[in-house]
Amino acid sequence: MKKTFKDISVTGKRVLLRVDFNVPLDEQGKIINDARIRAELPTISYLLRQNAKIIIVSHLGRPNGMFNPKYSLAPVAKRLSEILSHDVKLATDVVGDSAQALTSNMQDGDIVMLENVRFHKEEEENDEAFCKKLASLADVFVNDAFGSAHRAHASTAGVARYLPAVAGFLMSKEITAMQKVLQAPEQPFVVILGGAKVSDKIGVVVHLLDKANVVLIGGAMANTFIVAKGGNVGLSRYEQEKVEVAKKILEKAEQKNVKVVLPIDEVVATEFSPTAKSKVVDAYNVPANYQGMDIGPKTRKAFKKEIKRAKTIVWNGPMGVYEFPKFRKGTRKIAKYVANSSAVSIVGGGDSVAAIVESGYSHKIHHISTGGGATLEFLEGKSLPGVEMLEDKE
Ligand code: 3PG
Repeated sequence: MKKTFKDISVTGKRVLLRVDFNVPLDEQGKIINDARIRAELPTISYLLRQNAKIIIVSHLGRPNGMFNPKYSLAPVAKRLSEILSHDVKLATDVVGDSAQALTSNMQDGDIVMLENVRFHKEEEENDEAFCKKLASLADVFVNDAFGSAHRAHASTAGVARYLPAVAGFLMSKEITAMQKVLQAPEQPFVVILGGAKVSDKIGVVVHLLDKANVVLIGGAMANTFIVAKGGNVGLSRYEQEKVEVAKKILEKAEQKNVKVVLPIDEVVATEFSPTAKSKVVDAYNVPANYQGMDIGPKTRKAFKKEIKRAKTIVWNGPMGVYEFPKFRKGTRKIAKYVANSSAVSIVGGGDSVAAIVESGYSHKIHHISTGGGATLEFLEGKSLPGVEMLEDKE
């Protein structure tokens, strides 16, 4: 068990709060979805009630260690300030003159946000001198960036060597919810996986084969399994170099008595376009000039049957090309089935979470994770550097 900020006093202290405000932006730099900012409100409100001085540090995008106005946290600071109805000052750098000036004279309850920490290459290098400079801004480090906890960077892990380091509310909530489910999942435990690549999720499938009773696979990653079973996927996306791995996973699942349910039918189109004409075909016999875009009605029905029986559900990844509204049906139906089931459910990954939110059923989900890669690594059973570095409870 890791210490949280409830285990220490933060009253009047300068708190370096690592958050994951890596939010999606549109071409004009407007925030498309502020869920990651809103998820941080319980922690920030608590710190404000404790009269802490809050210094927020986050990354946004992948600016490769260089300043790039496209990745400035300015819109994020503005949105946070609007949501909180509280002034949020943005430093124009991370550990430079602006950050020093704004953080050296803070009053209780002040909030300063540092600029994108990935504008410094030292962040991803976990550079010691940079960690020390960051640490020198504060008295305490609170890590609430679950979404970045799989990164061993300066602001997610390294800085913890130089300050008392504890978890915030979001970090503890994410870990507690997932640990609880994974330690003793009530059966039947159904895992639903989707998305483009098998390679992203191999670790998750292998790890969960020891715990799950049923694995439902949709999205383009299902095609690699269909090829492994001798199916013909036409022009559908699949990973030739992972076919052997897929075969091994299917064998292992059989040995462990885990039922793997693959698509029976698919919605296919002749082009990868939002307006492509589509039809439903047998998933194992996709015509040569067609490619899979979504799961078909027979597949939805088969998945529904398993979801209905489940007592525990973990879902990560869309069932089809979710970015094209025309091919969202499979993912949306799964969102509805998961929400309507009485199982304890955990949903992670951008598109699956978006489908749940759009369906209006988020309140029926036991835990919606803010993590992408971090959630997957947690589900793989890996230890996360951003968590490991925090102090243990005595
Ligand atoms: C995420 O969105 O998964 C996290 O913010 C981590 O971002 P990264 O993959 O660029 O490290």
